[in-house]
Amino acid sequence: MVATSLNSKEYLLEKYSRASSNLKELEELGCTIVHKVDARTMSEHHFLKGKCFDRIVFNFPLFGIAYHVSVVSGFFKNARKMVTQNGEVHVTQKRVQLMKLINLAFKAKFLFFGSNPFNEEDYPGYINKKGHGKECDETFSIGDSRTFKFLRDVDFPDLGV
Ligand SMILES: C[S@@+](CC[C@H](N)C(=O)[O-])C[C@H]1O[C@@H](n2cnc3c(N)ncnc32)[C@H](O)[C@@H]1O
Repeated sequence: MVATSLNSKEYLLEKYSRASSNLKELEELGCTIVHKVDARTMSEHHFLKGKCFDRIVFNFPLFGIAYHVSVVSGFFKNARKMVTQNGEVHVTQKRVQLMKLINLAFKAKFLFFGSNPFNEEDYPGYINKKGHGKECDETFSIGDSRTFKFLRDVDFPDLGV
């Protein structure tokens, strides 16, 4: 398993109260941790380039509207190059945003095939965080959130018609 963060390790340690213990626990469990990974360019990241995964997960990619679209659409475009043939991409967010998500996924040739309710109890120790600004270490209400699941669409040959 590879866990990534957008920010540097130093930034995480400074801004998030549990960063140090969370990073240590992940390492002890055998997880590879890579910092400074931008979802919009992750397939070109020096550590990730050429690697394929059977699951690629982004929990709560929510920010301002325009930036959100750019990150989620960039995430899907990059994930398309990094997911195995029968692999899955999972995005957890509030149900109300589903149609926009399906549309962005479709543009990157992913098909929506189902969703599961997101229950925090299934992830002991996990606390969702705002992740930006002065209150980045604060949590927020996840309400009626679900994990939306996508499969790679088939690569059709370009017939030039
Ligand atoms: C609402 S927070 C959710 C954080 C965490 N995934 C959770 O479940 O609590 C949104 C996260 O998206 C990350 N993010 C913002 N822009 C990003 C980008 N371009 N690439 C990767 N991650 C990004 C932020 O660093 C922040 O951690």
